[in-house]
Amino acid sequence: MEERKVKRIIMFPLPFTGHFNPMIELAGIFHNRGFSVTILHTSFNFPDPSRHPQFTFRTITHKNEGEEDPLSQSETSSGKDLVVLISLLKQYYTEPSLAEEVGEGGTVCCLVSDALWGRNTEIVAKEIGVCTMVMRTSGAATFCAYTAFPLLIDKGYLPIQGSRLDELVTELPPLKVKDLPVIKTKEPEGLNRILNDMVEGAKLSSGVVWNTFEDLERHSLMDCRSKLQVPLFPIGPFHKHRTDLPPKPKNKDKDDDEILTDWLNKQAPQSVVYVSFGSLAAIEENEFFEIAWGLRNSELPFLWVVRPGMVRGTEWLESLPCGFLENIGHQGKIVKWVNQLETLAHPAVGAFWTHCGWNSTIESICEGVPMICTPCFSDQHVNARYIVDVWRVGMMLERCKMERTEIEKVVTSVMMENGAGLTEMCLELKEKANVCLSEDGSSSKYLDKLVSHVLSFDS
Ligand code: UDX
Repeated sequence: MEERKVKRIIMFPLPFTGHFNPMIELAGIFHNRGFSVTILHTSFNFPDPSRHPQFTFRTITHKNEGEEDPLSQSETSSGKDLVVLISLLKQYYTEPSLAEEVGEGGTVCCLVSDALWGRNTEIVAKEIGVCTMVMRTSGAATFCAYTAFPLLIDKGYLPIQGSRLDELVTELPPLKVKDLPVIKTKEPEGLNRILNDMVEGAKLSSGVVWNTFEDLERHSLMDCRSKLQVPLFPIGPFHKHRTDLPPKPKNKDKDDDEILTDWLNKQAPQSVVYVSFGSLAAIEENEFFEIAWGLRNSELPFLWVVRPGMVRGTEWLESLPCGFLENIGHQGKIVKWVNQLETLAHPAVGAFWTHCGWNSTIESICEGVPMICTPCFSDQHVNARYIVDVWRVGMMLERCKMERTEIEKVVTSVMMENGAGLTEMCLELKEKANVCLSEDGSSSKYLDKLVSHVLSFDS
């Protein structure tokens, strides 16, 4: 009798939380469809495999094995210049040990690679006869902006000039010049190279899997389709697909989830402002100070995630005003990390003050929580513009306006808006996400197509 072969998918995430989380969610979706999944991960930021026992993890060491890890050097590992960090990752890790993996039993259907790894990974995969699908962790609108970068440079929108910040980019409405997805870096040419390589890599791929859904980004997806000319699979929101995975073991290094849930359970429905700027963004000490006072003065309950190292030049909370923690008493809680999915789903949470990372944006939409938008870099600016002007589920609070009175005003007005405009729009969008995930919904149908597509690679 012929032995039944296990269909295997190899996944290659970029080693950052905002990229790893959606890749793991996608791995869960494939696992649920009967695939076995191997995660190839850089030794840099290697995750704890015991948190994902269903998947096989393999380490890729950097090219200079035996020498000091080039990424552990202080300037880059503190995440100060993301462009430098990503360039180094691409330089040292882009050739994953695919050949060994392919030879390891089971049928490898394809490699699913983070789009930011670019063309090299695909070329290596092709050489050994493996097809590559690309996964994009941020929205389609941002990708459209990236494909337009050469035009935007030609037309003088880029590099961004201070005098044009509020000008509409007529080629990419509703984006203004200040919304273009750039990153402050000492290597602007490096950023252009990374983005160009990502776009070209997506064109070369056998298809792009997207953590978005049609009812959210129909026009941007159409635009991407015509630019890329490869099949697109907007199957998001990834984290809302039903999977048979057991709940993740609690992460002991992070915050004590139970104490937190106890605190949230004591708060009135929709009364808490949840504040978090994701896993990478950093703020200045004076901004930290203003946020603290703005939240305090709003007199609203707040749950604030301050990652160690998030406030430039400090370890954690030492630059808080003297006596601040005693002063806020039970009004607020400051923690190093929370389970964000559980927090946003908690009935006490009334608004999310966010940096508008794509995962945070999608997660908030899925729970119907309105947002206060303080974008910090890259796609976060695009996401914020769409949240405020297109989907109308949030209010802007730009970093240049991070001053305590303004903070108090915006936070209070978003909370007071509850029941009125913002929450209603949010609940409508949440419902659209649910419909997309229903049996006949667009995301479910795209997932069926994705599975057939991947199986068709297998000879
Ligand atoms: C970045 C970009 O901002 C994002 O747009 C891109 O698509 C991926 O890389 P990051 O800045 O970390 O990611 O933000 P975000 O995309 O929001 O991802 C953060 C993730 O960490 C989310 O899944 C969120 O649920 C999780 N998180 C964050 C927690 O679980 N707990 C926290 O306390 C904070």
